[in-house]
Amino acid sequence: MASKRNWNVKSVLDWTTKYLSKISKSPRTDAEILLGYAMKKDRLWLYVNYDLELSSDILDKYREVVKLRYNGMPIQYITGEKTFMALNFKLNDKVLVPRPETEELVERLLMDARANGWKKFLDVGTGSGVIAVSIAKYIPNAEVWAIDVTEDALKLTLENAKRNGVSERVHVHKGHLELENLDVVISNPPYLTEDEWEKLEELHGEPVEALVGGKDGNGVYEEIIHRYSPKRFYFEIAHPFRSSLKRLFDENNLRYEIFKDLSNRDRIAIVWREDGTSTFG
Ligand SMILES: C[S@@+](CC[C@H](N)C(=O)[O-])C[C@H]1O[C@@H](n2cnc3c(N)ncnc32)[C@H](O)[C@@H]1O
Repeated sequence: MASKRNWNVKSVLDWTTKYLSKISKSPRTDAEILLGYAMKKDRLWLYVNYDLELSSDILDKYREVVKLRYNGMPIQYITGEKTFMALNFKLNDKVLVPRPETEELVERLLMDARANGWKKFLDVGTGSGVIAVSIAKYIPNAEVWAIDVTEDALKLTLENAKRNGVSERVHVHKGHLELENLDVVISNPPYLTEDEWEKLEELHGEPVEALVGGKDGNGVYEEIIHRYSPKRFYFEIAHPFRSSLKRLFDENNLRYEIFKDLSNRDRIAIVWREDGTSTFG
């Protein structure tokens, strides 16, 4: 971006869209979010101020964040924020960027939880706390335990619980817990295999421990089903539903139902024990 030229909102967005198209599937949106961030304005404001000329201070700040994005940093790490289930969350590069598919998992859980009166939840691998905080926010009187293996994740979860006014009902803890009478254990665990992760370069800007679930991708599912006995497990899963995960469920006498996401990809496994002690509905 030449510094001698006069830049306005529109010309700077056009230039950046072209520039970021080399590394991003959504270069225009990225450019708008980054300019909005540099100017402390929302995207709508940008649309009605296309002709506004940008000051050198704004341009300096904007160049800095565009460079970070160009070098592969996810946009949400740059802005430090993410909207999930219409709630605002703080984010940093120590945790996974929450995905829209995970909102579909939470929506399904909320629907079933309301129908069944479930109140006691455990979120395993809470990351930024999006799942745990959303449950506490949308189910009045729900008690939610949120666990992770990293301190950074737990710190962020606590901050996000406070930010959304539910810190009294979201209990964070490092490592596993002994909990009885759980209605639901929900988890979006790290589920890529090591080989899959190697090939997915676009994910290499996010923490590997949030993405890889051991050699076969099933390590954390295995830990969860061996430790807890809730009425239901709600899992996010890889597409296509892996035969090794199916085997794990079968070998542990678990019954399950697989649901697809909006892109018609296997995404959610609702799982319960064969003996029926914890069935519902
Ligand atoms: C895919 S991220 C999910 C983060 C967040 N729940 C979300 O959906 O955006 C998985 C999380 O699991 C955590 N994790 C990894 N191994 C774990 C284990 N054995 N037990 C509990 N959490 C684990 C990681 O630190 C990471 O925060």
